[in-house]
Amino acid sequence: MKKVAALFIAVATFVVACTPKASPSATEALIPAESRVKTDKTTIDAGQVISSTSCTKCHREKDYSRATYDELRPVLASMVKKAKLDEKEIQQISAYVHSKAKK
Ligand code: HEC
Repeated sequence: MKKVAALFIAVATFVVACTPKASPSATEALIPAESRVKTDKTTIDAGQVISSTSCTKCHREKDYSRATYDELRPVLASMVKKAKLDEKEIQQISAYVHSKAKK
């Protein structure tokens, strides 16, 4: 009986450990694709405010121009969760990062 329980735990651990946490589709759903990101000044300006307030709680403002927007999207997906941004704020920070990112 003990063996069965041990086997069950081993299998369960394997299943949990091997399920990817952040799938690419999570990024897709959270951070707008380059073709859908907002480019109006109002949204970009609002994003700049978020970048210098919510995004500086843990580190100084990052230099977004070191990478392209597509390269930054997965990082952004995890950062907006850390900063606990809502949907509108995610649109805004994405627009700002997009405006600064390497072209
Ligand atoms: C709860 C803490 C926390 C918050 C809030 C946070 N970050 Fe981060 N961020 C980190 C940590 C930890 C790292 C990894 C160490 C580092 O690069 O400073 C990081 C790294 C980064 C990087 C660099 C990744 C790389 O590969 O060099 C970027 C860009 C970034 N954050 C952007 C943001 C943006 C944009 C926001 C606001 C939406 C944000 N962060 C909010 C903790 C946070």
